[in-house]
Amino acid sequence: MTTLAQPNRARAADLFAALPRSASGTPAAYLDAARRTLEALMRRPDLLDGLTLERRPGGYARNLLFGQGQISVWAMVWSPGARTSVHDHHCSCCFGVWKGAIQEVWFRPINAHEAVATAEATRERGYVACMMPTGPNLHQIANPGSEEAISIHVYGFDHAVHASSVRTEYRMAAV
Ligand SMILES: [Fe+2]
Repeated sequence: MTTLAQPNRARAADLFAALPRSASGTPAAYLDAARRTLEALMRRPDLLDGLTLERRPGGYARNLLFGQGQISVWAMVWSPGARTSVHDHHCSCCFGVWKGAIQEVWFRPINAHEAVATAEATRERGYVACMMPTGPNLHQIANPGSEEAISIHVYGFDHAVHASSVRTEYRMAAV
C-alpha cells in the first residue's frame, strides 16, 4: 500500500473536505454526499496527475489519496489479470471507474463461507456506484482485459484502524 495522503492533501482538498462533515449525518445523507463527491472527483482530470501510483503486475494495488476520521479515499490500480476475493464490506463503499474498464460480479451467500454468482457487468470509465454495508454488497472485481484500469473508491472506514473495507471473504460455491 502506498500512502499519499500527506503530499496529496492539497489536491482536490475542496472536494475531500466535505466528506468527514457529511459522515456525521444520516447514512442516506452521507451516501448521497459521498456519491456527489465521487462524481466531482471523477470530473477532475488532474486528480491523479503527478502521483506515482503503486502497481502490482497481475494484481491490484491500493493508493491512499485522502484519509480523515471515518473516511478514506483510494485509487486502485487494476493490472491485467487482477482479481479480488469474493467479499462483502463492513462499511459504506462508493467507487467510480477512472480509467479503462473493470468487471464486477455479484454474489449471493448460501452459507457463512460460500456464495454463488448472480450477476456480472462490465463497468466502463465514468461508472459510479454506492453501497451500504446493510444492503447487497457481496461482490468481486476483476480486470480481465489487457489494459490497466484505475478506480477511485470512497470508503467509510478509518485507514488507521482498518486494513481494508473487506468484512468477510467467501469461496465460490460449485453450481
Ligand atoms: Fe468491494
